[in-house]
Amino acid sequence: MPRVQTSIPELDEMLKGGFMQGDAVMLAGSAGTGKTTLALQYLVNGVTRSREPGIYVTFEQLPDQIYRDANNFNWDLRKMEEENKFRLICTSPELLLEADGGENLLDAPIKEIHPRRIVIDSLSHLEMYIAEKEMRKEAYRLIMYLKTKDLSSLLIWETPQIIGTSFSVTEVGMSFLVDCIIILKPVEIQSSMRKALAVLKMRGSDHDKRLREFDITPAGIKVMPPFTDYEGIMTGSPRKSLTNEAAKAWASAFGRKSK
Ligand SMILES: Nc1ncnc2c1ncn2[C@@H]1O[C@H](COP(=O)(O)OP(=O)(O)O)[C@@H](O)[C@H]1O
Ligand SMILES: [Mg+2]
Repeated sequence: MPRVQTSIPELDEMLKGGFMQGDAVMLAGSAGTGKTTLALQYLVNGVTRSREPGIYVTFEQLPDQIYRDANNFNWDLRKMEEENKFRLICTSPELLLEADGGENLLDAPIKEIHPRRIVIDSLSHLEMYIAEKEMRKEAYRLIMYLKTKDLSSLLIWETPQIIGTSFSVTEVGMSFLVDCIIILKPVEIQSSMRKALAVLKMRGSDHDKRLREFDITPAGIKVMPPFTDYEGIMTGSPRKSLTNEAAKAWASAFGRKSK
């Protein structure tokens, strides 16, 4: 089964090679956790490392702001657009939701650049425009449309805050529609705010179940080793695992003795 590499090495490792081709992936997290950054990096890496053109659809930001933010990571989106490898679409959810809205908006860029990847920033934004009951149906329609166009999609879902593993009703509804879910969440460890990433589900594939620390660096998202010695990170109140602490105490006690 071909994989779609994010080219973020540790993330690809967690995904056993990358996303499955054509899958709809939900990228969930609260504001400021790095969703937009990760999504842009996925598209930019697609262009520069996998020869896979991509489309970025946003309801949240203006073009200038996106070009500028991307430039800060050394991602030249304008150049990619000129080379027909990238398209930035800033639009309103209403347009996408109109009958055939998806097609109207996306058909031309699809013909022009033959994209393999797409990001919707954000799917949760649609919630403001449609009743909760309609949300699932509209999201389903959109996801299916993207699949018929052979696009591997990254659908951003902004959550108030992910506490533990609990999701809202809509999020639970959404989670059945997507093939893979990645969450980004802030964690407080020893009085400092850090960030964690986890693959919650991946249909049809094994994946890393551990929570891994990540950081937003000037070169983009960098994933670090798993938080092996912390418990309770998902519940938001991590503490160093007792066994680990005990083991360290024992080790240092023995270390001293043997000297
Ligand atoms: N060029 C940069 N270098 C390092 N960190 C950055 C850079 N640009 C943004 N960030 C960090 O990324 C955070 C926002 O990330 P973003 O992807 O916009 O989050 P989200 O889309 O989840 O709201 C900022 O709060 C900031 O800490
Ligand atoms: Mg964002």
